Amino acid sequence: MKLAFIFSLAVLGCCALPSKQQRRFPDDFLFGTATASYQIEGAWNVDGKGENIWDHMTHNTPEVIKDQSNGDIAADSYTNYKRDVEMMRELGLDAYRFSLSWSRILPNGLSNNINEAGVAFYNNYINEMLKYNITPIVTLYHWDLPQKLADMGGFMNPLITDWFEEYARIAYDLFGDRVKHWITFNEPREICFEGYGSTTKAPRANLTDVGTYICAKNLVIAHAKAYYAYNNYFKQRQGGECGITISVNWFGPLTESSEDEAAAEIKRQSEWGIYAEPIFSQQGGFPREFTEKVAQKSVEQGYSSSRLPEFTEEEKNYVRGAYDFFGVNHYTAYLISASEYLSDFAVPSLNDDVGVGTYSPPEWPLSNSTWLRLAPNSIYNSLTHLKARYGDVKFYITENGWSESVTGNDEGRIRYYRAALESVLDSLDAGVNLKGYMAWSLMDNFEWMEGYTERFGLYAVDFEDPARTRTPNKSAFVYKQIIKTRVIDH
Ligand code: NOJ
Repeated sequence: MKLAFIFSLAVLGCCALPSKQQRRFPDDFLFGTATASYQIEGAWNVDGKGENIWDHMTHNTPEVIKDQSNGDIAADSYTNYKRDVEMMRELGLDAYRFSLSWSRILPNGLSNNINEAGVAFYNNYINEMLKYNITPIVTLYHWDLPQKLADMGGFMNPLITDWFEEYARIAYDLFGDRVKHWITFNEPREICFEGYGSTTKAPRANLTDVGTYICAKNLVIAHAKAYYAYNNYFKQRQGGECGITISVNWFGPLTESSEDEAAAEIKRQSEWGIYAEPIFSQQGGFPREFTEKVAQKSVEQGYSSSRLPEFTEEEKNYVRGAYDFFGVNHYTAYLISASEYLSDFAVPSLNDDVGVGTYSPPEWPLSNSTWLRLAPNSIYNSLTHLKARYGDVKFYITENGWSESVTGNDEGRIRYYRAALESVLDSLDAGVNLKGYMAWSLMDNFEWMEGYTERFGLYAVDFEDPARTRTPNKSAFVYKQIIKTRVIDH
């Protein structure tokens, strides 16, 4: 009797509760990879392309790049695009996310001069993907601002909102008959804080948090203008969607204390909330606690008003709701403490206005990038938090990946992808409306200030070889199998 009971429980258990390994990704879930123009294309001055801020910075101050390299040739996808599409086919990708180089299409950034050769390159690239049923997902801006626009102040100049809108319209008009997924900006935090608030990305403006905040406001308005240009004029005819990609790493509390929870919340607001809240929240504008904190600090510092610019009511209403989806770039997590220096693995906070402790637990496996560890459940934590805060938004993971400077046997990357995809399945089980996942990256590429010293590719690229030969790492075969079977193999 007892035995029969145990047996029937075991049978029931096996069928009612599938084990983690048996969970499947939905058939319409888009699996892809992601890249960005400056990181892969090369051909920096070929066929009429104009100079951008990364050309300018790497040529004029090569010493700021770890190996003094640049993206002049990079993976030479300008020449090798057919091989790139062949790799997408080898992997069995549903989708491929890439970015347009603004100055390849509009050499001086403005709408009066369209470079036909640049347009032809993207037409060929897109058509080659479509030939094999690979869905293009296009980012309009992945950090390579035309230098002429930088000379006019770049994201410090409110006119950026018009320049960007005009460029976006041109792109929709040229490619929107075939491109149905548009991302306006990639990672506003990295554009604003790293490019304008500090010196860790081009144009290295180093304008402190004042620069970061001015950029944040101009950028979200530029996003909204490009969104409405699509929504009001192109969407009906072309039938696609438009969103923005924000870097959302997970910032959880170090302890369960209410002080640490409050510290984690303000850190999330300063890292991604200042870009997400104006667009995705019901009330619009910058996040409340963060706004209050900056106002208070500004007064203490003797400013007559807050360093954080305000949105007018009209601007708030214009920007909120300006999305069809939320693109999430997710890599890692940190633990946040209310006290800034708590132990020997404390990383001092980079943002004066927040003043919290940021910790990377040493027991979380470290990649070849100092900032990137494999953190438990971090995709699930991020997506369920965003859903709780912003409602039932449609999400894509537009980047997720691991740096490992080996060719061939990239076991660390495989472990990372398997863990990340389990966390994706947990998120789907929790009811997150997640429609796709893009691995960063299809191939090794120019990793910004780290040059070619950090590698994220499923395919290794030989940068010594003029042909820039691509060879699949072991992770490519693992990812291919997961895409094919819709199940994570272990
Ligand atoms: C996010 C950025 O969008 C991408 O350009 C970069 O290479 C990866 N993070 C890895 O650092």
